Parts: sequence; structure tokens; C-alpha cells
Amino acid sequence: MTTNPYTTTRPQILPSILSADFAKLGAEIDEVLSNGADFLHLDVMDGHFVPNISFGPPVVEAVRKVTNCYLDAHLMISDPVRYAEPISAAGADGITFHVEAVENPAEAAKQIARFGCQVGITLNPATPIESIYPALEHVDLVLIMSVVPGFSGQQFMPEVLAKAETVKKRLTGAQRLQIDGGIKPDNIRRAWEVGVDWFVVASAIFGEPDRSVAIADLRKELT
Ligand code: DX5
Ligand code: ZN
Repeated sequence: MTTNPYTTTRPQILPSILSADFAKLGAEIDEVLSNGADFLHLDVMDGHFVPNISFGPPVVEAVRKVTNCYLDAHLMISDPVRYAEPISAAGADGITFHVEAVENPAEAAKQIARFGCQVGITLNPATPIESIYPALEHVDLVLIMSVVPGFSGQQFMPEVLAKAETVKKRLTGAQRLQIDGGIKPDNIRRAWEVGVDWFVVASAIFGEPDRSVAIADLRKELT
């Protein structure tokens, strides 16, 4: 059974498998989930919305088979409404789309919700926070991108923290605020202090030799 992370308000640490060793993905997933990570973030890229290609429904389905944890899919793709259905059917529990990729964000959120998943909306660092306001009442999650999406291992952009702080004031207690990009032990606390609930981390977990220590180093900043 999938544990629903919306039932807790405790900060959640989500390894992004983008930095995992794909040749042994099952073992990589086991390792982080048995060493303190809360659930997984799946970065889907189409080589069009972002200049990189990662994976699609077959890999989501393979991940679904090896874990019961909540699967949070971040669609960095040009047609999120079209692909939300196969990604959801493959086993994603939550689906986040980019506001830059759709014409009507409120309508996109409503359509994606029809597939039975939680819905998130996100925006690139250069996109004004007001762009997501028309969709806010239709989403469960707001994701603040703290790097230009496309690659793991980039430098955290502290200027996006102002957007996080601003949007947090508009969220209800049922909604969650997430941050993604360049999160490390030396900046995670600043994000937490402005109201972030969920922290996506790829290189600062999978790029470290001891994942247990890496997750503990992040978690101890959140107390
Ligand atoms: C960025 C992806 C992120 C990325 C984070 O395009 O959406 O989820 O994998 O990687 P790190 O934590 O290394 O910045
Ligand atoms: Zn992501």
C-alpha cells in the first residue's frame, strides 16, 4: 500500500532517481528508502520542453513494481495533459506539470486530476509566481524550481526563496510546497524556514558514497 504523504505535515525528503545508477535502479531505490528517505521523485523529460531526455512510463512502471512508496512525477514535457494519463496508469501517485507548458493552467490541473492522482503545478526560476495563481485552488502541490530544469547537479538559486515565501501564504493546510534543484545540507534549512514542506534531492543523495549519511545530514537541518 502506498503511504500518502499528504497525511503528514512533517518535512519530507524525496530522492530524485535522476542521479541514481539506472543499471541498478532497484537496489538504489531500496537503499535510499531503507535509509531515511520518505518517498521518490521521478523526473520525466522529453528533450523538447527541456534539453534533456530521461525516461517515461516504462520506467515509472518498473519503479512501481519495486516499491509501495508514494511516487511523485515531475513532468518536464511539452504536453503534460496528454502524458499524465499513461504516467498515472504506470503508477505515479502525484503528477506535477509546468505552467509554461500549458495555455490554461486551471484547466490543465482539472484534467490531470481526472486521472485520479494528486496534481502539482510548477514554474521555472524566471517565471513570475503570479502565473500559477489562476490554478492554485485546483492543485494539491506547488513546486518551486530552484534551478533551470533539465539536469541534476546544478547550483541552487537562492532568489527563488522569495517566491516560495509569497506563495506559501496563499496555500491551504491541505496543500504542500515543494522545492527542487540544488538542495544540499547548506541550503535546505533556508528553504524550510520560508515554508517548504517537501525537498527534492538528487545529487546530494545519489552522488554521495554513503546515502544514509547524506539523508541524515539533510534531515538534521530540518529540526
Ligand atoms: C531538475 C530536476 C531535479 C533534479 C534535481 O531538472 O527536476 O529534480 O534531478 O537534481 P539536484 O538535486 O542534483 O539539483
Ligand atoms: Zn524534479
